[in-house]
Amino acid sequence: MENEELIKIASLARNNAFVPLSNYTVGAALLAKSGTVYIGNNIELPSAIGISNCAERVAIQNAYAHGEREFSKIAIVGGTKDEKADKTFTPCGVCLQYILEMCKDVDILCFVNGDLVCKKVTEFLNFPYEFKK
Ligand code: THU
Repeated sequence: MENEELIKIASLARNNAFVPLSNYTVGAALLAKSGTVYIGNNIELPSAIGISNCAERVAIQNAYAHGEREFSKIAIVGGTKDEKADKTFTPCGVCLQYILEMCKDVDILCFVNGDLVCKKVTEFLNFPYEFKK
């Protein structure tokens, strides 16, 4: 699947965001190696922002819940509700750690200053925390 198509799916997923606290909507689209795309959107618990779920983690959990374990890329798009996507939107630190541990080698497609960038999680996290048993 082309990057542009995955970004379009992430943009559509933004419409499902539930954002009573921030009014900021994020959509994610995760392509599994099976060829199936799993979407996610941010979901905020009305009483407490600390318990909210980011779009990336919802997409990853959606994929895991369907038995998927191998992935090729994830696209993310974010912006204020009912407005166009922000020119710069990159994953938060918690989601980067989640991507590191749950779908390590994916290409992360996101936007910086209006340009599509494609980066590995280790380009965001230069010295990542990795738990070794
Ligand atoms: N958010 C995401 O969904 N993904 C990120 O990587 C960063 C932030 C959400 C969390 C919250 O619902 C809203 O965006 C504002 O921070």
